[in-house]
Amino acid sequence: MIDFLGSRRPDWLRCLPPSQPLMFHRMKPFFLIAVLLALPLPAAADETVDFAREVQPILQQHCLKCHGPEEQNGGLRYDDRQGALGAGDSGRHAIVPGQPERSELLLRIASPDKEVRMPAKGAALSADEITILTQWI
Ligand code: HEC
Repeated sequence: MIDFLGSRRPDWLRCLPPSQPLMFHRMKPFFLIAVLLALPLPAAADETVDFAREVQPILQQHCLKCHGPEEQNGGLRYDDRQGALGAGDSGRHAIVPGQPERSELLLRIASPDKEVRMPAKGAALSADEITILTQWI
């Protein structure tokens, strides 16, 4: 192996055997880690949902008619934060931030039972819309 620092090795390097240029082998794991860290993060950022752009239009279009300023069916309204986070007539909270599995809203929009499913009238939300609401919560 070539000692490419040759005779110009500084004093503090002389104690090392000359046949380990840059100690590359010992450093390998560190290079590997550095390369991994440098890779772009996976598309996690895509999963954050923009309330005004994605969530609000869904609620507006499908829910506010019955859960808004005029009617508060089930004791719920989705046009303000306090109303949206509160409990409905069932005593369950429609939106439990960070806990989609405990959020009545999701149970109702995803229910296969027509009697239970929201919106109470008309077509169910699309899978995409349900995904957006789930990610948002
Ligand atoms: C056509 C009117 C109508 C629309 C539109 C509608 N709802 Fe409802 N919703 C009701 C009625 C009536 C109740 C009360 C009876 C019941 O619980 O089924 C209710 C109750 C609920 C409850 C349960 C409240 C509780 O704790 O008792 C949730 C959650 C809910 N709706 C969510 C939604 C969501 C989310 C949407 C939009 C995707 C929506 N609703 C659209 C009429 C509607």
